[in-house]
Amino acid sequence: MAQLGPIGVFDSGFGGLSVLRAIRAALPEEHLLYCADHALFPYGEREAGAVLTRSRHVADALVAGGAKAIVVACNTATAVAADALRAELTVPVIGMEPAVKPAAAATRNGVIGVLGTGGTLASARFAGLLERYAGEVDVITRRCPELVEAAEDCAMSAARRQALVDAAVAPLLEAGADVVVLGCTHFAFLRAEIARAVGPSVDIIDTGPAVARELARRLEAEGMLRGGSRRGSERFWTSGERTTLEQPLAALWGGAELETMPQRPAAEQATG
Ligand code: DGL
Repeated sequence: MAQLGPIGVFDSGFGGLSVLRAIRAALPEEHLLYCADHALFPYGEREAGAVLTRSRHVADALVAGGAKAIVVACNTATAVAADALRAELTVPVIGMEPAVKPAAAATRNGVIGVLGTGGTLASARFAGLLERYAGEVDVITRRCPELVEAAEDCAMSAARRQALVDAAVAPLLEAGADVVVLGCTHFAFLRAEIARAVGPSVDIIDTGPAVARELARRLEAEGMLRGGSRRGSERFWTSGERTTLEQPLAALWGGAELETMPQRPAAEQATG
């Protein structure tokens, strides 16, 4: 039977809009509810426990808002929280991880680069990915919190943004990487700068479209697609300062209303 609730999608901020864009392209008729958890932005350099607690909180709010499925549009949150969310929630949970496997398959010279957050690159989940898929290749990683900030900073000059990207990819290029993995959803918004920095002979892999395909496959398998031909709606929440975030949302997504993420009732917070 068709299910009418929205697909809930979250990230520490607006980086996950790159995944939302892929979901919108794959599933035009679905309602989408996006939560940018700016109250804890950025997740990437925080303790894993804090990101786990916060991911539970945001996912619960999305489910309370009617979400029929949750997409963790964040590599950092997936690394520490996806298993717990899957065990605790009754709705399907789709996570994402750096595309090490496709990169290892695509490299021609056996050297791949991964740009990510400290949290993702230090996680057991990422270590497991390397062990499973990267035995035969050299993997050069670069932790780039400055690019997470740059992706959301619409006041930053183009020259400054390009300089940050150039510095971030330099060690990857020096090591000879011919594939660069965007291991953080924010970096999809810097794809043009990254392409300029690495040149045409280096492939760039973004996981967003694969997440959208996996979501579509899962919803179809579970009979949870909304169906019909009417375009779905989009709603945007932030847990941060709404008025200062409207401009970055407009820059990254286009005109859209930004709402404050609803807080759980006090009684519920006290007990749970
Ligand atoms: N966009 C997120 C990711 O994919 C997290 C960025 C951050 O908050 O540090 O990892």
